[in-house]
Amino acid sequence: MVPDEILAPPRTRPLFINLLGETIDPRVELTAALLEPAAFIPPKYFYDAVGSRLFETICELPEYPLMRTERSIVDAHVHEIAARIGPGSVLIDLGAGNCEKAERLFGWLAPTQYVAIDIAADFLRERLEILATRNPQHQMLGIAQDFTRTIQLPPQVERGARAFFFPGSSIGNFTPDQALAFLQRVRAAGGPDSHLLLGVDLVKEKSLLDLAYDDPLGVTAAFNLNVLRNVNGVLDSNFDVGDWRHVAFFNPECSRIEMHLEARRDLAVRWSSNNRQFCAGDRIHTENSYKYTPATLRELFRQAGYSAVTVYSDAASAFAVALGEA
Ligand code: AVJ
Repeated sequence: MVPDEILAPPRTRPLFINLLGETIDPRVELTAALLEPAAFIPPKYFYDAVGSRLFETICELPEYPLMRTERSIVDAHVHEIAARIGPGSVLIDLGAGNCEKAERLFGWLAPTQYVAIDIAADFLRERLEILATRNPQHQMLGIAQDFTRTIQLPPQVERGARAFFFPGSSIGNFTPDQALAFLQRVRAAGGPDSHLLLGVDLVKEKSLLDLAYDDPLGVTAAFNLNVLRNVNGVLDSNFDVGDWRHVAFFNPECSRIEMHLEARRDLAVRWSSNNRQFCAGDRIHTENSYKYTPATLRELFRQAGYSAVTVYSDAASAFAVALGEA
């Protein structure tokens, strides 16, 4: 046996910090949500190992062009975006997922450090390890954190100008009030010379939006139903996926996609000492995905305290990428 270090030079492995323990206990959060009169499951519970992969598959579907459109917008304007942000910032990726969107910016932004934050700890660690082997010249830090609650940057995050990256229209999961509070927190965490690059899905024809969240292959249905398996794992509950149906539609009054799981029959769900009855047709609300207009987007940045914002879009105005300057 030849020791590894003789075959390959040592490389710096990404540092990984788990701050999930410092937020609310998932069992407490899920129990409260399921016992509400209008039962719901927070959408972050979609992202177990299977859910994270199903979401990657959703992004490959022709009916769900968000990520491809976002990429083409960023590609078309990356020169200007990089010039505005300036080289050598700390790139902080909120909800990094597979980290591929941020990786495309490395060459342009030349960040001094890449900080990837995500709630899916194992998935993030796995993808960050792969990323580090492909980009050995970049210093990387992974943080497992529920950033929907707090943005807590540990001391391992380097000093210097901060460029926050919140792509993929993840902002859509927040209500407009929560979105504003979130942007204010990002603005506060970033300080005076920070930037926020935000990807947002835009309001469009209802039939297009409905199809994006209820695709004919049923991948989104599987993604939605899989949340019950994740919940069973967390709570040791007895949800039977076969008892539930995927429901998704655009609600124009609220400018949002709603996803629900609808009971196919009368049933009871049990976990520890709890019991929740559902009648056939009752729904568990699993996700809101708010859609913006360029005007509501600008207003959001303004209210959060950004002094300037540039909104980039595609020819069909399907998606927007906004760059806010503190
Ligand atoms: C990851 C929140 C951006 O709202 O479009 C995709 C999640 N849900 N299909 C979205 C999702 C169903 C997605 N975000």
